Amino acid sequence: MSTSLAWDERYAGGGFQFGEAPNLFLLGQAHRLRPGMRALAVGDGEGRNGVWLAEQGLAATSIDWSAVGLGKARALAARRGVALDTVTADVTRWDWPAAGFDVIAWIFVHLPPEDRALACAGAMRALAPGGLLLLEAFTPAQEGRRSGGPKDPALLWARALVERHFAGLEVLELLEGSVALDEGPRHQGLAEVVRAVLRRP
Ligand SMILES: C[S@@+](CC[C@H](N)C(=O)[O-])C[C@H]1O[C@@H](n2cnc3c(N)ncnc32)[C@H](O)[C@@H]1O
Repeated sequence: MSTSLAWDERYAGGGFQFGEAPNLFLLGQAHRLRPGMRALAVGDGEGRNGVWLAEQGLAATSIDWSAVGLGKARALAARRGVALDTVTADVTRWDWPAAGFDVIAWIFVHLPPEDRALACAGAMRALAPGGLLLLEAFTPAQEGRRSGGPKDPALLWARALVERHFAGLEVLELLEGSVALDEGPRHQGLAEVVRAVLRRP
């Protein structure tokens, strides 16, 4: 079972589990971002994506239930000379601020079905008009691969889940397929993912 303590233990070592560089899919969305946008990096762990969003001039917040991960995120932001807000909270219980963000980055966050529904409802509430939801996550085709992802298949994403949880958002991109990951020690090799770029009308 995934718990905040288990993630604290994973993050307690010296390195960065998923690297310090931003996720490549997120990096590829740079053309959609503008300085001053309010961005939330969901389940941001050690902060690689929140810090990169801050470096693009966005007002970035990282949320994660691992206090250890977010401590490293703040240290990374300080090293890079950018401001990063951090929220230590369970995304299924957090009071997501209505229309509080122009960009929500949901990168490799895999939750049990009931929790996923709660967190997605929160993200829907928090996305401002015109706001972007940027999601990358492992799909069932990832089962058996050693390039990352949850052991419990119930936590995996799929295009159909994206369509269900984020119904009402405009689809700008929604793809399932294979990508080569090179993100720290935990995401290495060919992987099966869904990638989504969705916009609130
Ligand atoms: C696979 S890691 C990805 C970290 C980061 N998004 C990245 O790509 O580098 C998943 C993250 O989700 C966080 N997480 C899982 N369940 C959570 C929950 N219910 N509330 C808050 N964070 C959660 C974990 O602590 C972990 O940092």
